[in-house]
Amino acid sequence: QVINLADYRPTDFVLERVDLTFELDPTATKVDARLIFHRRKGADPKAPLVLDGDELALSGLLFDQTEMKASQYTATPDSLTIRNLPKSKPFELTITTIINPEANTKLMGLYRTNGVYCTQCEAEGFRRITYFPDRPDVLAPYTITIIGDKAANPVMLSNGNFLGGAGYDEGRAFAAWFDPHPKPSYLFALVAGDLGVVEDTFVTMSEREVTLKIYVEHGKEARAAYAMDALKRSMKWDEERFGREYDLDIFMIVAVSDFNMGAMENKGLNVFNDKYVLADPETATDQDYANIEAIIAHEYFHNWTGNRITCRDWFQLCLKEGLTVYRDHEFSADMRSRPVKRIAEVRHLKSEQFPEDGGPLAHPVRPTTYREINNFYTTTVYEKGSEVTRMIATLLGKDLFKKGMDLYFDRHDGQAVTIEDFVKSFEDVSGRDLTQFSLWYHQAGTPLVTAAGAYDAAAKSFTLALEQMVPATPGQTDKKPMHIPLSIALFAEDGTPLEPSSVDGAEYGDNVLHLTERSQKATFKGIGSRPIVSINRSFSAPINLHFDQSPADLALLARHETDHFARWQALTDLALPTLLAAARDARDGKPVVASKDFVEALLAAAADETLEPAFRAQALALPSESDIARELGGNNDPDAIHAGRSAVLQQVADAGKSVFASLYDSMTTPGDFSPDARSAGRRALRNSALTYLSYAENVPDRAKAAFDAANNMTDLMQALTILAHRFPDSSEAAAALSTFHDRFAGNALVIDKWFSVQATIPGTKALERVLKLMDNPQFKRSNPNRVRALVGTFAFGNPTGFGRADGEGYRFLAREILDIDTRNPQLAARILTSMRSWRSLEPARAEHARKALTAIAKAPALSTDVRDIVERTLKG
Ligand code: ARG
Ligand code: ZN
Repeated sequence: QVINLADYRPTDFVLERVDLTFELDPTATKVDARLIFHRRKGADPKAPLVLDGDELALSGLLFDQTEMKASQYTATPDSLTIRNLPKSKPFELTITTIINPEANTKLMGLYRTNGVYCTQCEAEGFRRITYFPDRPDVLAPYTITIIGDKAANPVMLSNGNFLGGAGYDEGRAFAAWFDPHPKPSYLFALVAGDLGVVEDTFVTMSEREVTLKIYVEHGKEARAAYAMDALKRSMKWDEERFGREYDLDIFMIVAVSDFNMGAMENKGLNVFNDKYVLADPETATDQDYANIEAIIAHEYFHNWTGNRITCRDWFQLCLKEGLTVYRDHEFSADMRSRPVKRIAEVRHLKSEQFPEDGGPLAHPVRPTTYREINNFYTTTVYEKGSEVTRMIATLLGKDLFKKGMDLYFDRHDGQAVTIEDFVKSFEDVSGRDLTQFSLWYHQAGTPLVTAAGAYDAAAKSFTLALEQMVPATPGQTDKKPMHIPLSIALFAEDGTPLEPSSVDGAEYGDNVLHLTERSQKATFKGIGSRPIVSINRSFSAPINLHFDQSPADLALLARHETDHFARWQALTDLALPTLLAAARDARDGKPVVASKDFVEALLAAAADETLEPAFRAQALALPSESDIARELGGNNDPDAIHAGRSAVLQQVADAGKSVFASLYDSMTTPGDFSPDARSAGRRALRNSALTYLSYAENVPDRAKAAFDAANNMTDLMQALTILAHRFPDSSEAAAALSTFHDRFAGNALVIDKWFSVQATIPGTKALERVLKLMDNPQFKRSNPNRVRALVGTFAFGNPTGFGRADGEGYRFLAREILDIDTRNPQLAARILTSMRSWRSLEPARAEHARKALTAIAKAPALSTDVRDIVERTLKG
């Protein structure tokens, strides 16, 4: 069944109030839903009320407290249709369903995780709890009563403010909650069980005291301290940056160990994958800390962008997700180093979103059609959506962007709105027509901009010829030219900035050039010497840029650009030709030679004391194997890419041995462990040096010593990764893996790292390792984090192992997808997207991949989720 944006229409009935009572039972929870409706003015007076369900059975239905005649309604597992309802006066329905949380392996609706009741309702999980108009444009205040076994459920939580609770009858207790803010069903949450709690308070800008609680499994309370700190900083930041204040008396976070995604922004009661809450120096890496900070902020920021203002329909998902990712990116940039954060964002965008946009699963940031909405929680909707928001901020400038956001909050508070409404707020405050710009929401595919420069010394002018092309994507063959904001700077040969006196041929202001035509020439006047041009600084637009620059010019930018993101970009542009040539040479059996310009520029950056360590670590982390595959574009041989890249790493390591040795000695972080960005940057640079030294020295000794000396998880994991990946057959690697395992056995989140590091060991033996690890008692097929750590990491992060030439990796994945799909379709569909770039493989591997995909497509009982992904992947 295909859902189309064009078919949107409001409901016939308006929901006024929701009153839910849950009588908890692990296998038979009784849900009474009292719903007050009235027919919408102007709606068909005969129209029936059709409520959504999913695997439900109706066990009672009252109309204004009296039993309904069977002839008046029809109940199926996925809908409840009620006829002959009043023409205009309000009426009350009481719907009773009995559901089985224990048997709910899809982790949508009400389920159990480690003995705790918990819910996930976005996007369409609420309909697995009760029959309901389960769509985001139906908003109502909710009253919730939870009744449960007192001993088993000392904690019983739902959205909003706590009304009260007490003993109920023998051995049972109740708790009642009221959420005054009208909300759609996808923001409903219930949590009950025996949990530990960490408490704090936050005083808002209007001096209201808010209680903060983070619930975790007993004994893990101390590991929630960083999350609590991140929450308080998020609340403060949203007040200062966006003027947004929290709006209930209490804000709660619950960490659960079985969760399909990262986290969920339920009103006043965020539910988190425990991976994104729990941290301490012994068990969490610097990356884990950064992720926790970002995701805590993300879910908190949804309170305004998502909850107070929500989506009219699921096509508008980027309205809340793109905007909220933009907000969490800005938060992290303010908490840490802005350029380093930007580099990490762009790396992620290019390695995840660009392949999606360039493959069979490409779709617009605001799609117009879907078969399964769960498959649209994508990096395009989230990360490209964030980039589109960032471009609006770039086009309008800081002040007008802030004004536009204020207008959006004022105008639409309490509403369910569209991307058009969002864009309109910015048009209204700026007077700028954003019609062409809005194509970013509607046209899929990464635009390609080609640039060429010409300097006219006599006229003292520099002309930049720009062309744009948006590639065809599934369902969209003809693309219109887009409005692309390009941040540009010119530098003289000595590195000093050159300011044009004026620019002709394109709108230009605040260093931003507006490319709006298919082909356009911009002339920079008053340029006294040949300029070196920096284009798309800070990645002002999410595009591919083709611009032929000499190694000398790139090296100059790498040294003198004032925008440090652009310095990193210049170093990457220097590295890529070497890495691409290396992959080709390795394939053709020719010797690999890294270009001297590149190696020199890279080592100069590594040793540059004026640059922050985190930046230098980013520079040293060369484009990944999948980055190289993407740049090569087709006929890819993962083994050649790996061999070529390793050869380049080896040459950098040999040339920079002394630089790396001195960085390894100097970049220590003495004293107590601190997860702050500065210390994390020093660890990153030191660990990067360690990696290169392991190439230069070509023995495991130094990594082994680092493993033994590590006093935090970042250093420990890096040493373990080097041992396992560089020296997989050494006794040192085997010993470190077993030490690590024994030290952390029972700590599932850390054992996930142990699974992942082994799943990503390059080479043909990886599959056997993964199969063996799946028999480890700590691997649980039902737990999404375990499956992602082992199967997901293998498929997404091990190009040579997963993509081995005989196709065994793809066949393994096909079997696993079919198995996972029987329990958890969302998880299966997500992992299957690891096949999205199969067409750019060399012909023999591509054929193995196609056959594996076809085997999935032919399986007798596929979920809608997997069917949708597999069919699009094969077709596109
Ligand atoms: N809204 C959540 C977030 O971005 C993601 C929930 C997605 N859930 C799902 N079942 N698709 O934080
Ligand atoms: Zn979100």
